[in-house]
Amino acid sequence: MSFDSDRTDPKELGITKVPRHVAVIMDGNGRWARQRGWIRLRGHREGAKAVKRTLEESYRLGVEYLTLFAFSTQNWDRPSTEVEGLMGLLLEYLHSERRELLRRGIRFRAIGDLSRLPQNLQNEIAALSEMSKDNDEMHLVVALSYGARDEIVRATRALAAAAVAGEIKPEDIGEADVSARLYTADMPDPDLLIRTSGELRVSNFMLWQLAYAELFVTDVFWPDFAKDNLIEALQAYSKRERRFGLTGAQVKK
Ligand code: FPP
Repeated sequence: MSFDSDRTDPKELGITKVPRHVAVIMDGNGRWARQRGWIRLRGHREGAKAVKRTLEESYRLGVEYLTLFAFSTQNWDRPSTEVEGLMGLLLEYLHSERRELLRRGIRFRAIGDLSRLPQNLQNEIAALSEMSKDNDEMHLVVALSYGARDEIVRATRALAAAAVAGEIKPEDIGEADVSARLYTADMPDPDLLIRTSGELRVSNFMLWQLAYAELFVTDVFWPDFAKDNLIEALQAYSKRERRFGLTGAQVKK
């Protein structure tokens, strides 16, 4: 990754509100490859290039958190060649981008059941997370072996254990107590969810955290996702009125 310039003024691009946290369901790698008669892994490889572009443009526009859904708990059931290929790609990405991420002051972390990942990938994730932990120019979060229901089950277990231990009373449990036990405990909720390839689903991604996120779906397959597509999503977000359950009049006050 080499960022062509530091920051862009979003207003010059018609982006009047920059979402603090953008989450992305990167979909369509397989179809992109199939359209060209190529193996699926080639789509994932091109997808990794789209990750670089999206991170670069998000950084330039001042997005603070970018969370990418790279591998779900259900993806473990894909053919082993695809799973191994994806794990290899992720390792390659972390190796090749490490220097630039650190140079840019980007904090990296992964969320999900990381214990299921190959040991070399776990080691790379742990090393980069540790090395970048004090960075705050931007946050890159990659969801790996991630499932939102599984995340909520884990939080529920932790709360039940705390209740049994007498550390918390069941009647005192509130939303903040659940949030504090998710992988994303110290992160703001996503403001904008982008999904590529036209599917209208959330696919077990950040179910709790996306409660009030604005949704943007594009037909573009992830490997084709370009800087202009991100700009389009942010322009659309700028025009949205977020109400959080209030009336339009209340929000405008
Ligand atoms: C969904 O497309 C995509 C994935 C399951 C993998 C996403 C992974 C990458 C973009 C690779 C690199 C990631 C990083 C963070 C460097 P699909 O395979 O389900 O596509 P399809 O629905 O068209 O079959």
